[in-house]
Amino acid sequence: MNSILDTFFGLQGRTALVTGGAAGMGYGIARALALAGARLVIADRDAQAAEIAVAKLREAGCEARAYIIDLSQESEIAPMFDAARRYFGTVDILVNNAGSYPKYDFLQITAEQWNAVHQLNLRSLFVCMQQAVKLMLEAGRGGRIINISSVASVHPATIANAHYSAAKAGVNALTRGAALEFAGKGITVNAILPGPIASDGPRDPDAPPVIGPAANPQRWITGRMGTIDEVAAAVLFLAGAGGAYTTGQALAVDGGFLLS
Ligand SMILES: NC(=O)c1ccc[n+]([C@@H]2O[C@H](COP(=O)([O-])OP(=O)(O)OC[C@H]3O[C@@H](n4cnc5c(N)ncnc54)[C@H](O)[C@@H]3O)[C@@H](O)[C@H]2O)c1
Repeated sequence: MNSILDTFFGLQGRTALVTGGAAGMGYGIARALALAGARLVIADRDAQAAEIAVAKLREAGCEARAYIIDLSQESEIAPMFDAARRYFGTVDILVNNAGSYPKYDFLQITAEQWNAVHQLNLRSLFVCMQQAVKLMLEAGRGGRIINISSVASVHPATIANAHYSAAKAGVNALTRGAALEFAGKGITVNAILPGPIASDGPRDPDAPPVIGPAANPQRWITGRMGTIDEVAAAVLFLAGAGGAYTTGQALAVDGGFLLS
């Protein structure tokens, strides 16, 4: 890397943990951080995909480990951070990316379905942040937390998605709250709000078609969906030294969807 890129974006000697890092946006983010020099912990419930992701990163000359976890199981989260500490000493960068977006009819959603969406998309992020901040404070060299939210947190994106919008709005509030708490310790906390992104993660073939503003190509004012790399590039900025003075922000990577 030439020196200005290295100064702003270089992550040599840093450890990043990316949840849901085996596939889709998470893998693209993990790959970008690893290629910028970070050691990677790929945390995912899909063991096969996680091992493939790690093998690809190692082939590219990066240092990476997989950690298999169902983030919905809260008791599994602290042991994951213990393992990351054992593997690489600490966690400097946490990317809370894992999430799911099942569609449920507003009038039919059950308490169990609501709770499952909020457990994974909001509560598990909070618990990961708690664990990561403890390691960051212990290491005493600041840190970066990047929460993958959604444009749906500030503008309804699709039908049958209000439960998800509510969880992601919680992520934005959590981001700002934690940013305020830890700014004095050199730990930045930001959210990225992707718009419609062509992700390649596993899809339920029986899922109903997605309907609503974000699924309407007329609302894609750039004329296309976003790419995983366009989200990864925003993460890279926030993760590096160049992002040190940016905290508590919600950065939409949406091709102008929120303007449309
Ligand atoms: N794709 C989009 O258009 C879009 C738009 C806005 C926001 N987002 C957000 O971006 C993030 C990633 O989305 P994506 O489309 O890449 O998802 P994806 O479904 O393609 O991939 C998610 C990854 O997370 C893992 N995962 C899912 N549940 C898990 C669990 N309980 N424990 C551990 N790992 C788990 C999966 O195995 C997979 O590897 C999510 O938070 C999502 O809400 C996506």
